[in-house]
Amino acid sequence: MKFPLPGILLIATEAPTGSSWCSGAQSSLDPAGPQSQQISNLWWNYFYICAAVYGIVLLVLLTALVFRATHSLSAPITRPSTFWESLRAWIVGGLLTATTTILFVLLIGDHVAGRALHRLKSDSAVKIRATGHQWWWEFRYEDPEPSNELITANEIHVPVGRPVDFELESPDVIHSFWIPNLHGKRDMIPGHKTHTIMQADRPGTFWGQCAEFCGYQHAKMRFVVVAEPEPDFQKWLAAQRRPAAEPQSESERQGRDIFMSRSCIMCHTIQGTMAGGMIGPELTHLASRPKLAAGSLPNTRGYLGGWITDPQQIKPGVRMPPNALAPGELQALLDYLQSLK
Ligand code: CUA
Repeated sequence: MKFPLPGILLIATEAPTGSSWCSGAQSSLDPAGPQSQQISNLWWNYFYICAAVYGIVLLVLLTALVFRATHSLSAPITRPSTFWESLRAWIVGGLLTATTTILFVLLIGDHVAGRALHRLKSDSAVKIRATGHQWWWEFRYEDPEPSNELITANEIHVPVGRPVDFELESPDVIHSFWIPNLHGKRDMIPGHKTHTIMQADRPGTFWGQCAEFCGYQHAKMRFVVVAEPEPDFQKWLAAQRRPAAEPQSESERQGRDIFMSRSCIMCHTIQGTMAGGMIGPELTHLASRPKLAAGSLPNTRGYLGGWITDPQQIKPGVRMPPNALAPGELQALLDYLQSLK
């Protein structure tokens, strides 16, 4: 992923269109849906118009400085000619009119983009209830058939070309739901449900990010968004609805026993087992996710082991306590968790 450079450097070094600094998996300027396209167009229109105005102002200033430096002062004008007076009035009036017109053009552009953002139809939308927690994301795919409801954490999949209707809520503090490549931000307010609807027009993997300071680990509150064709999405849904895989080896069985007999079970759910805690992320298909700890770590055996042993070292303030496990126990637990595909 590319990180944006400070704006002034960008202007100095690269032309905007087609260059890499405005693309990436977490960029509003790399739109992957109709709404982010509107936002991106609005941004570029503002950018070009303001850059042109800025350039003209600098040019006029420079001309005045050069003129002043190359011409000697004339005698004070005590009785100005009516011609120059009226010409000056016309120039000043023209500039004021141009300024007002430009501001109105920007205002109208903003209004048109704002209306276009709300035009998405939601008849066939996928419905997801997204909950922001300090500091991770819970996603519930709603379905008229209760057995088809699906809960996942820190990762969503969405079908390309179909709107996704998010109901947003928070049980603790204000968070802000933001997938820059798909739409603008939307606050998640405790005790007050909000909505946002968006659509991906091309497949890809994007980053979602909490966009409202919500405590110590606000910056490590991210989620993965996978936009994929409808058949792949349906395949993913079906796989995620299945209960957790049964342990296949002795070590995996031992790992499951450790999970069920320790404090893990108090906070985490693994469908198909007796673990039903709702405080921390759902782990039924943990091994299928690319990241751990809300986008903070790669989902590999080493990071998972480090995270279980001492999460406070990686994300200080997080609710998960350190877990003192014997080396053999930790390896068995990792074997089990890594089997949860
Ligand atoms: Cu949640 Cu910032």
